Amino acid sequence: MQHEKDFKPAALPDAQVVTKVKHWTDRLFSFRVTRPHSLRFRSGEFVMIGLAKDDGKPLLRAYSIASPSWDEELEFYSIKVQDGPLTSKLQHIEVGDEIILRPKPVGTLVHDALLPGKRIWFFATGTGIAPFASLTREPQTYEDYNQVILTHTCRDVNELAYGERLVEDVRNDPLIGEFAEKKLIYYPTTTRESSPQMGRITTLLENGTLFSDININDFNADNDRAMVCGSIGLNTDLKKILESHGLREGANSAPAEFVVEKAFVG
Ligand code: A2P
Repeated sequence: MQHEKDFKPAALPDAQVVTKVKHWTDRLFSFRVTRPHSLRFRSGEFVMIGLAKDDGKPLLRAYSIASPSWDEELEFYSIKVQDGPLTSKLQHIEVGDEIILRPKPVGTLVHDALLPGKRIWFFATGTGIAPFASLTREPQTYEDYNQVILTHTCRDVNELAYGERLVEDVRNDPLIGEFAEKKLIYYPTTTRESSPQMGRITTLLENGTLFSDININDFNADNDRAMVCGSIGLNTDLKKILESHGLREGANSAPAEFVVEKAFVG
């Protein structure tokens, strides 16, 4: 693994140096950058990152930090939109390049926005898995809950690769592996390409398949907590389902049983 000290310090204000880039598919990539020494954040939060335009002005978008709060670097997971103002350029970054990062983390997908519970559900579609990549590597997740269920739905099988690798790494992690082995349930599904578990997570929740597949039959507001991150459609539909089970939407200022955030789209 490469470390911050292996790279020359960033020259621009708010600039961080790229330390790793991995292309998962022709539409998805992840990258790591140096972490500003002063940056403190809660696992699940997002920051504004981007690149300088030709006129020197920054072009920034919200990105969930995919690495946990204790990590010495910052990881991001991104879609590549060929005509997207930022990602059409960001997808070409290489180790040693600089990106702009505004060190002001915010967001609702944080443990503080939920009341104590027994089980936590992380519902992700597409790049919406990024905040949960942070939270599933966060020891507090396993301290606070008896069971941690990560669902990830993508159109095609190869889009699941980042999440598969994440879960494998978490289970082998010397710090949290032992707890994750007992508590973490990973439930990947696809909607357009054949795979062992197919279907939208909303459908699988409503028809009970999800519960029977993972042997849970008592989903309720007393025990269950949820975080949702995906497209607007997914967020809206899942919010309705969670509310139909008696869960209420929470926020940093008023913790409750579930929280929702829109995934970065391009
Ligand atoms: P589907 O293929 O049926 O549209 P996208 O790539 O468009 O962001 O979608 C990522 C995944 O989220 C896809 O598998 C997609 O399923 C699913 N999805 C999109 N909208 C919803 C929704 N409203 N409820 C549940 N799943 C959704």
